[in-house]
Amino acid sequence: HLKALIGPSILNADLSKLYEESQKLLDNGADYLHLDVMDGHFVPNLTLGHPVVKCLRGKIKDAFFETHMMVSNPEQWILPMADAGVNQYTFHIEPVDNVEEVCRKVRENGMKVGVAIKPGTSVTEIEKYISISDMVLIMTVEPGFGGQKFMENQMEKVKYLRDHYPLLDIEVDGGVGPSTINCCATAGANMIVSGTAIIGSNDQASTIQLMRDAVQQ
Ligand code: DX5
Ligand code: ZN
Repeated sequence: HLKALIGPSILNADLSKLYEESQKLLDNGADYLHLDVMDGHFVPNLTLGHPVVKCLRGKIKDAFFETHMMVSNPEQWILPMADAGVNQYTFHIEPVDNVEEVCRKVRENGMKVGVAIKPGTSVTEIEKYISISDMVLIMTVEPGFGGQKFMENQMEKVKYLRDHYPLLDIEVDGGVGPSTINCCATAGANMIVSGTAIIGSNDQASTIQLMRDAVQQ
């Protein structure tokens, strides 16, 4: 049976206190940390890279780190992120010529591999890589920024994948919170990324638990 996992995104946290904010999320029940890596090319924003991840891992020894690679050349960062202590390397297939090669290299370097698609990419594009990856990420906003509106029309991709691949880990990311978690759960997502809804909550533990309960039902 698939586990319901909640992975807060730290993108909209106070990044001047990345360690404290990350530790607080974990203390409040986060199952993993979703670290948004943006290169200013694949998306019109720039965030953090492997040096920052390495320092965070230096202080948080055992939490599960997923990097969401919103970058034009995900192959370039596999080794640095593996060295930084990343557990799950989730990359966008849109800019990649040889997805199989990237998946193989990620696994060769001891990380789990996730394949991600933007709202404009069809789910059939990602279907062919399911057998060589550990998880699929269905974006529910156009990648680049936190705090955007949830795109409900992406749920048909999640439902399609859940119907055809009952044991697949399916992650949703973008605009997910207490007001949108139920349609994610109904569609069949089991890995939930949520940024502003958790970061901005005055009771992070309850918000995390509410979303986990919604998925588990
Ligand atoms: C957007 C990022 C998401 C985002 C989620 O490009 O990939 O992880 O930070 O934040 P919210 O939940 O605020 O949309
Ligand atoms: Zn993300």
